This record gives sequence, C-alpha cells and structure tokens, in this order.
Amino acid sequence: MPDIKDIKFAKEGFERIQWADKNMPVLKKIRDRFEKEKPLKDIRIGCCLHVTTETANLMRTLKAGGAEVRLCASNPLSTQDDVTAALVKYFDIDVYAITGEDNKTYYNHIDSVLEFNPQVTQDDGCDLVSTLHSKYPEKCKNVIGGSEETTTGIIRLHSMHNDGALKYPIIAVNDAKTKHFFDNRYGTGQSTIDGIIRATDMLIAGSTVVVAGYGWCGRGFAMRAKGMGANVIITEVDHLKAIEAALDGFRVMKMIDAAPLGDLFVTLTGDINVIDIHHIKKMKDGAIICNSGHFDVEINLKELNKICESKKKVREFVDEYKIDGKSIYVLAEGRLINLAAANGHPAAVMDMSFANQSLVAEYFVKKFKNGEKLPIKVMPVPKDIDDHIAELKLDSMNIKIDELTEEQKKYLASWSIGT
Ligand SMILES: NC(=O)c1ccc[n+]([C@@H]2O[C@H](COP(=O)([O-])OP(=O)(O)OC[C@H]3O[C@@H](n4cnc5c(N)ncnc54)[C@H](O)[C@@H]3O)[C@@H](O)[C@H]2O)c1
Repeated sequence: MPDIKDIKFAKEGFERIQWADKNMPVLKKIRDRFEKEKPLKDIRIGCCLHVTTETANLMRTLKAGGAEVRLCASNPLSTQDDVTAALVKYFDIDVYAITGEDNKTYYNHIDSVLEFNPQVTQDDGCDLVSTLHSKYPEKCKNVIGGSEETTTGIIRLHSMHNDGALKYPIIAVNDAKTKHFFDNRYGTGQSTIDGIIRATDMLIAGSTVVVAGYGWCGRGFAMRAKGMGANVIITEVDHLKAIEAALDGFRVMKMIDAAPLGDLFVTLTGDINVIDIHHIKKMKDGAIICNSGHFDVEINLKELNKICESKKKVREFVDEYKIDGKSIYVLAEGRLINLAAANGHPAAVMDMSFANQSLVAEYFVKKFKNGEKLPIKVMPVPKDIDDHIAELKLDSMNIKIDELTEEQKKYLASWSIGT
C-alpha cells in the first residue's frame, strides 16, 4: 500500500506532470521506444529521488519499459504531494513519500522500497543504497546495478567502495556530461535563486551574496546572482576553483572575512559546517543563510539551535535566530532551498538527467540478460549513452551543428602536420 499525503491532490499533480513532460522531449522519445520494446520487462526498480513532476515522468518511462517501480523521497522536504497522488491514481505507481515527513517515516519509506527486493536501484544521495547495504545486506545479491544522481551520493559510494563495503555495480549518473554540465550548473543556478526569492521576496540587485563552493552548482548560482545585479563573493578550499572564480570576476576570500559583508549566504559544497558558529557570530543583523547542497549539514544548525537566545518562524521557510542580540535568518531548515521552497530544477534540464537514469537502467538489464557481469565499483555512464542524449537534446532544440569533413577527421587524427 502506498503511503502519501492525500489522493485528492491527484488531478492537480496530473496536470503539472503533463506540463513538465512538454519540456522533456528526450525522455518522451525514450519512453515511446520503451513502450514498444519493453527493455525493462518484469524488472523491479527501487527509486529514492526527489518526488517532483520531472521524477514522475521518469517513473512513467521506467514503467513504459515494462518495469515494476517503487518510489520514495530522497529528502523529507522536497516531495510534491500532488505528484505522489497523481502517480498513485493515474499511473499506478507505488509511492512512499509525504512532504515534511520526520526522520523515522523517511527511513520507513526507504524500507518500503527495499521490501520489494529491487533489482535495480536509483538513488539521489545514497540513502537507499547505504540502508540496503547496512540493514538488508542479504538483499544486495538480487541487485543487478544501481545509479546515483548527485555529487554527494557519488562521494559516499566511493567511500563504500574504498571500505570494501560496496556489493554491486554503480553507475555515476551525476558524472555524465549531459547531467552535471546542465543540471548542477543551470538547474541549481536558476532554482536556487527561485527558492530564495519565494522564501524571502528579497531584492537580489545590489545585495552582497556570499557563495560557498565554486563547483558546478556554485558556478551556476554565482553566475545567476551576478546576472541579477548582486555583488558576489566566493569562498573555496580548492586553489584551482578559487583562481577560476577570481578570473570570472568574483571577489574570493575566507568565509570568516566574508561573514561581516554578506546580506545572503548560500552553501553549495557537499561539505559539513561550511558556515559555522564563529562565522555566524560575525554576520550582520538581518543576514540570511541557506543551503543548496545535498544534505542539511552545511550550516552548523545543531550548534546554532543550542546557543541561540531564541528561535521563531517568521514566515514560511524562514526561521529567525536571535544570537548576540542580532537576528539571523535561516531558510528551509538548512535543507536544499531550491527543492524545499521552490519546485527544483526546470524540466528542460531534468530531461537529460532522467534520460541518463532511463538508459542506464536499460544498460544494466541488457548486460544482465546477456549474462555479462559488470565490475563491482562506481563507473561512469557509457560514453555512447552520454553522446546519444546530447544529440537527442540538440535535435529537440532544433539546433543544427557542423560535421567534421573527411579532411578534418584526418587532420585531427594525425601528428605529422606541424607548422
Ligand atoms: N540543489 C540541488 O538541486 C543540487 C543539484 C545537484 C547537486 N547538488 C549538491 O550540491 C553539492 C555540490 O555539488 P557540485 O556538483 O557543485 O559539486 P562540486 O564537487 O562540483 O563542487 C563542490 C565545491 O565545493 C568546494 N568546497 C568543499 N568544501 C568547501 C568549504 N568548506 N568551503 C568552500 N568550498 C568548499 C569544493 O572545493 C568544490 O569546488 C553536492 O552536495 C551535490 O550533491 C544539489
């Protein structure tokens, strides 16, 4: 039995899923082919993903391919309850996710997905895979392979592999070019701005925005904040990324030096306590802090909750903490602001991310049916899948590009022609 908030939201969810689908032409093309070929016939796929309209279209695609699918949330705040209702009512997919669910329910929902003995896992942050390995190790032998959607999940999976704990092959969907070039950069860039504005109504122009982390997500967000007129400061721990940020025209400094300057602070690192108490104590009255990295560990809220003079909710997604007589505002309890306060990434970028998820599931099943064993490690998305998705996306955008001539191919492959 699915566990969702309320089936009565189904109609609205259905309309929004269809709307997202209009911007997911690559996934639609794959779904149409899956419908005919049924490459996932009778395969059980267990998914732990942000439950959004785009994810709903991925679920439809897997089902069209013949798979049985169960879905739970990869974050307690990112679930869209109208989408869960529509998936259950109109698409007959078992969903276990309720927005705002507590930690116990979150893990009970993961258990519900694992109880169905998935043969393929799709994870976003590695909570499904880590629970499977630690709580139900005997079930791992049924699993053909798993795919991981995000940077943080891949870091955790590499640790599992290094510790000798990983029990089945994983494909790092995040690392496909057609995923992180677009989803992490343009998707996170736009939707993080969207979440902050929805939560606060603040004017970005003229404000000082401190961005922690200049990776794919940080670059995307910094670019958009700059475009809206913010004075952007970057903090980093990687020398190369710091040079890149400086040459892109941003001020780069330590968080402790940026702390008194910022009006808005955004963490996008995948790291812990990037904004700590000694930083918060230096911030000005009225500073706003939020996170768009995967887990709610980037701001030291545990300590802030202990030492603050008071805490009160002042509007949806905004908590005011009083500390040293100043007001510091934390958005969405330090969870992914773009998914908590807004709708996550636009469908047009999730189109490529979820095309990867679909084709990787097909790849695992094809290998399994051919009796081929994949190594037990974290692997890249096969290049032909990445290239195929890029070609389909460009085609859907009606953009034509030049092709190499025979002469150019020969020239580019040769070493003999010099000055
Ligand atoms: N909000 C979303 O929807 C969304 C989408 C994709 C990825 N993510 C998550 O966002 C996070 C970042 O992902 P990414 O793809 O940009 O990763 P990335 O590895 O490209 O970038 C992370 C950057 O943070 C820097 N960093 C690490 N610790 C730091 C610290 N203490 N101070 C300053 N900088 C620090 C690293 O040097 C690196 O440059 C991950 O947790 C990822 O899972 C979120």
